[in-house]
Amino acid sequence: MAILIISPGRNLKRWTDALYAADPSVPLFFPEHVKDPAKITFALAWNHPKGMFRSCPNLRCISSFGAGVDHLMNDTDIPPYIEIVRIIDPLLSNDMFEFSLALVMKHLRKLSRFCRYQSKGLWKKHGYLRMTDIGIGIMGTGVIGNHVASGLQNVGFRVSGWGRKPGPKRVYKRYHGAEQLDTFLSASDVLINLLPLTSQTKGIINRSLLMKLPPDAYVVNLGRGAHIAEEDLIRTIDEGHISGAHLDVFDPEPLPGSHPFWTHPGIDITPHVASLTDPRSVAPQVMENYRRAEEGKPLKNLVSRELEY
Ligand code: GLV
Repeated sequence: MAILIISPGRNLKRWTDALYAADPSVPLFFPEHVKDPAKITFALAWNHPKGMFRSCPNLRCISSFGAGVDHLMNDTDIPPYIEIVRIIDPLLSNDMFEFSLALVMKHLRKLSRFCRYQSKGLWKKHGYLRMTDIGIGIMGTGVIGNHVASGLQNVGFRVSGWGRKPGPKRVYKRYHGAEQLDTFLSASDVLINLLPLTSQTKGIINRSLLMKLPPDAYVVNLGRGAHIAEEDLIRTIDEGHISGAHLDVFDPEPLPGSHPFWTHPGIDITPHVASLTDPRSVAPQVMENYRRAEEGKPLKNLVSRELEY
């Protein structure tokens, strides 16, 4: 019984080191080394070629390399009896919080503008916003969204969160459902998207949503590129309703060199770096799920195939 590891383009040495350190007894295979597919019972995957798991008749469980599982939900060839798990890791959640904090502060102090001035050799001052001037709205109040929202609230920001359904009481004001979305948006001077990508949330950041944000609102996308209706975002910035956006995720990735986001003065780009999964931190939970799957025990961080997250 063995684990198949697949993540095209990723340097996997740190992953195999960390997985062997967590349990040296479990054989690990890359797809090109699998001689007997019947031995593969567990897979660790990110952006695998669709349909590739059909050749593993004894596969029981697939773990995502990260928090998101849209890359697995997209593959309609994964039979429903195969369980899907994701990574929940305090380091990953906290990296998302730190990155969100950095971007909110960058927006308040208009740091992107100073970078542009520097590139032109311009000595020019302009005003800025203070923490108390804005409300922050976090879309998605799952494990990561809740950590980011609570962290920003604890730093001293006025934070609200929005999720699909009612949830437990939080330190920040939490809204839910379509009926409370507009009220949530109207208080979101900075909107941070941390939703999972599902058939319900695809394209959710569209013109209608953007127009419900307060004037001069700023949009931060740390979810998935496909959450955003790209032309709507550009139009709403160009018309002056939204002051700008920071985008860390794209569809597709890498963002093609000819894409208008690269050169838009209101848009800052980072290459999907809000949090990078640390193999040493998550290898123990991958191995624990491998053992649980072997023993037929309930898995940790199980994903709902129906809800798609
Ligand atoms: C990163 O985008 C992840 O899903 O972990």
